[in-house]
Amino acid sequence: MKVLVDRRDALAASPDVVVSGLFERGEKGTEPFPPALKPEDDATKGLVKAAWDRKEIRGKRREVTTFHRPDGRGRIVLIGLGPREAYRADTARRAAAEAVRSVKGRGARTLGLRLGAFLTDSVDAESAARALVDGAVLGSYEFTKYQSRTEGGIEEVTVHLGEKSAREESGLKRAIGEEAELAEIVLWTRDIANLPADTATPERLAEEARALAKETGLKVAVFDEQKLAEMKCGGVLAVGSGSVHPPRMIVLEYAGGAKRGKTVAIVGKGITFDSGGISIKPAPAMSNMKFDKSGAVAVLGILRAAATFKVPPRVIGVMCCAENLPSGSSYRPGDVVRTYNGKTIEVLNTDAEGRVVLSDGLGYVVQQYRPDEVIDLATLTGAEVIALGDDTAGMIATSEPLAQGLLAASAATGEPLWRMPLTDFHRELVKSEIADVRNSIEIPVAGMLTAAAFLETFVGKTPWAHLDIAGPAYTSSPTRKYQPAYQNLGATAFGVRLVTRYLMDSARAA
Ligand code: BES
Ligand code: ZN
Ligand code: ZN
Repeated sequence: MKVLVDRRDALAASPDVVVSGLFERGEKGTEPFPPALKPEDDATKGLVKAAWDRKEIRGKRREVTTFHRPDGRGRIVLIGLGPREAYRADTARRAAAEAVRSVKGRGARTLGLRLGAFLTDSVDAESAARALVDGAVLGSYEFTKYQSRTEGGIEEVTVHLGEKSAREESGLKRAIGEEAELAEIVLWTRDIANLPADTATPERLAEEARALAKETGLKVAVFDEQKLAEMKCGGVLAVGSGSVHPPRMIVLEYAGGAKRGKTVAIVGKGITFDSGGISIKPAPAMSNMKFDKSGAVAVLGILRAAATFKVPPRVIGVMCCAENLPSGSSYRPGDVVRTYNGKTIEVLNTDAEGRVVLSDGLGYVVQQYRPDEVIDLATLTGAEVIALGDDTAGMIATSEPLAQGLLAASAATGEPLWRMPLTDFHRELVKSEIADVRNSIEIPVAGMLTAAAFLETFVGKTPWAHLDIAGPAYTSSPTRKYQPAYQNLGATAFGVRLVTRYLMDSARAA
């Protein structure tokens, strides 16, 4: 999608669709017609005020009202923003996505956003503009690869600065351009994460990484099953042993934009399909386990963004990829596997495979690169979904600055994150009587946190944040309508905007 900036007011430029916002009215709805809507009212020859007087428009969230301009110069879409006190940049992000979706397949090709309608005392022009661009670009996304017929949508979005923001034009142009590019990277990430498991095999993910490296100048190394055996990556090998598609560990390296900058390692869980293995999952919703590679695919997106925006830190991306299937060659409950750093795992449940592949990736990156910080992204536990739902990721962090940095990035990007504790209680629970750690526990307590305690064994003392993205990594039919409109059905590429923001804002040397 093309994203442009224009100083003129949207109504004067008259694109196919002009998008404007309005705040929610009080219960009685007796307040006078808001002066801010005067331009829209003029453009419709009084239709907006008439609708207001008749209480046809209330400004409730997700309310979409379309006016056709009597002069035939297109449509005006008014999006409800909810109460003014509760308005955030994320409200604008959602509103822009609602608008783009409301006109899909209805002839509109160009869309203009009236920046002025989305500014308040608490949301400045840059955050509003970035949010609107996110909403428009992300909200327009659909995974259409397997559809023989698709509806046309918006091809060109313009942010109209209007008088008030024209003075900030150059800064806003930069921010809008950057945000549009990042949003496109998110769509590219979604396209890969949405590929079904017959196509997105571990080797296919390696091919994507190689192509990315070639295009952007990143360094790449792909470890195949022979190499993984030499390296003694027993975890990745065990999980991948039941599939005809052999496992891969993929390492991408971005050199860093700042001199003497810190090194941040980003490690992702890349289970291309998680059937549970011998500890097989029940049939309902198993198809969603093609999204169990979302952490590793997010690593691809983050590394693409790091190279594109030349973020200050050096960034090492590690993708731990395997398919978890039951077969005669699968790993089994009771097996003990030795991982890259020599630590051993007692496998009690082959469905707790994410932590098993991550053990090699974490152990490898910590030993080989001595990073200043490690962040991992993984659709790791059902317990995360139970605890936090489909929109919020769980964070377990052993470093205060890292945790605060990620929470700030979460607030700025609207990708929700909630910090959870890690205590000795959880650490004790993952100890094994016959190996160093066990991958599952006989009692179902704090599943998200015992998984984190397990991972910590392989990170050691390096400052670390674990992001369990099991809930927000994808949207499924039952919860889709409760999600913001910029999350379409399927993979969301959660974490790409969040971690990229963190890396962009990361100061030089730690
Ligand atoms: N990939 C799943 C976690 C998951 C569940 C992701 C639902 C997205 C939605 C993971 O490999 C898994 O199966 N975890 C088990 C661990 C248990 C066996 C210790 C779980 O959470 O039930
Ligand atoms: Zn599993
Ligand atoms: Zn899994």
